[in-house]
Amino acid sequence: MAPNSREATRRTPSRGTRTTKTQLPSTRFIGSYFELGQIPQDTRPQVALAGRSNVGKSSLLNRLVGQKKLAKVSSTPGKTRSLNFFLINDRYYLVDLPGYGYAKVSRSVKDTWGKMIEDYLLHGENLAGLVLLLDCRRDAGEDDLKLLHWLSERQLPALIVVTKADKINRSELNRKVNQIERDLGIPAIGFSTVSGQGRQELLAAVHDLVTSNAKR
Ligand code: GTP
Ligand code: MG
Repeated sequence: MAPNSREATRRTPSRGTRTTKTQLPSTRFIGSYFELGQIPQDTRPQVALAGRSNVGKSSLLNRLVGQKKLAKVSSTPGKTRSLNFFLINDRYYLVDLPGYGYAKVSRSVKDTWGKMIEDYLLHGENLAGLVLLLDCRRDAGEDDLKLLHWLSERQLPALIVVTKADKINRSELNRKVNQIERDLGIPAIGFSTVSGQGRQELLAAVHDLVTSNAKR
């Protein structure tokens, strides 16, 4: 499929290849797809961003790559309705998925989104792993656990991001992160789009995930 007109590019300043704390990954919006058969036929690894509606997937992506308006964000749940592919450093894709669990979405839309997510996570050929977002004020729900189960069936790695960390204090966040790691047996990172907390750690973890996948 041709690149979408909303395509946006950002290159890091050309100051050599040394990675600094402020360096931003280069990012390119590739396209929005509504079924597995449409996604780019490209062997570069893909990392999915999944979670309930409104948990902060699109905001996290924007913060991670330092572009405020790259992925659409809204305080009304249900903003992301397709599989949105972003190419990072020409090396791997971050895939912003529609959220689930939003009560006000009609049954048929829920089914369509659910099928799209399920197809992609179960059968996406170049899926390297999952970043599952959980709101710091909620526990993992049945749908969240189902996604983790699918990934483990495929023996693909997952990471948890505990979002909206600015809404609770540091010790509550630490407790939450530890509880999730203990309960789910998966590494977890606290993240806030407001403060930028967790950004470097998450970029490094995604990079590790993509690199370790390449060696499999
Ligand atoms: P869907 O596309 O509907 O699945 O939602 P999403 O998971 O992509 O959430 P989105 O990024 O659109 O954010 C939902 C709302 O949460 C927006 O109003 C964001 O501004 C807000 N939000 C996201 N991350 C944070 C955060 O770290 N802190 C705070 N305070 N608000 C956040
Ligand atoms: Mg979204």
